[in-house]
Amino acid sequence: MKVVTTKKELISWINDFRKEGKTIGLVPTMGALHEGHLSLVKECKKNTDIAVVSIFVNPTQFNDPEDLKRYPRTPEKDTSLLDTIGCDLIFLPTVEEVYPEKDTRKFNFGYLETIMEGARRPGHFNGVGQVVSRLFDIVSPDKAYFGMKDFQQIAIIKNMVKQLNYKIDIVSCPIIREESGLALSSRNTLLDEDHRKNAPHIYATLKKARNLVARMSVNDLKKWITDQIDSNPYLKTEYVEIVDDTTLQLIEDWREKNNKVVCVAVHAGKIRLIDNIIL
Ligand code: PAF
Repeated sequence: MKVVTTKKELISWINDFRKEGKTIGLVPTMGALHEGHLSLVKECKKNTDIAVVSIFVNPTQFNDPEDLKRYPRTPEKDTSLLDTIGCDLIFLPTVEEVYPEKDTRKFNFGYLETIMEGARRPGHFNGVGQVVSRLFDIVSPDKAYFGMKDFQQIAIIKNMVKQLNYKIDIVSCPIIREESGLALSSRNTLLDEDHRKNAPHIYATLKKARNLVARMSVNDLKKWITDQIDSNPYLKTEYVEIVDDTTLQLIEDWREKNNKVVCVAVHAGKIRLIDNIIL
């Protein structure tokens, strides 16, 4: 496994692989890797010849400077984990390497950025668009892999791929959960013991909600989920939305034909967690 920190080295390796006729898969990450990330790399290894993983805590997608400061960083552990699962190439750049000058591009994701994470974290998806498009330009992968925990992010990235005409296949991979049901997230390591113990209540509620669809209206179910989560003194919901799984349009009536997904953001003390379940 090779670890490179500059675009020049990375591009030179990619060019060599391309000359050998190899296909390239990219797994963009912000590090603090867990089994969820590793599942993306494993999927990538199944479908492409070379698995490239980028580890970069992207400052432009943090709308809260405190959140950026406390975001976990474990590069040594990450590199050894990736080595054990056969990753081929790690890109571990500095901020200056990714942004030699300020990125002033403003994406227009339209409706997609007006709801859920987009509405609550102004500028977040613009930053995601900036960094992912830079990574795509540097690596030129055939496929790129993203986890479905960040459900809205996948819709944003697919939209960006269309806008910028990338010929890259975006592969969404299922959420990986602990045995307790808690969705794996780098932020879980920041939870204190009490919040850690109570966080699985989020998914337990989503699972119960799935069985209530036939018995409640959309709005009643959203209220039921909010009340259930908030009945736990360690948790406070920020939003509960039920959306179309492709367009992310808000669902108002179960009779709408499309596949539906419940998305939630929940505060567990100072840590904000997101999760979702397909109905
Ligand atoms: O999902 C993430 O970890 C990040 O948003 C991503 C896609 C790596 C961009 O920084």
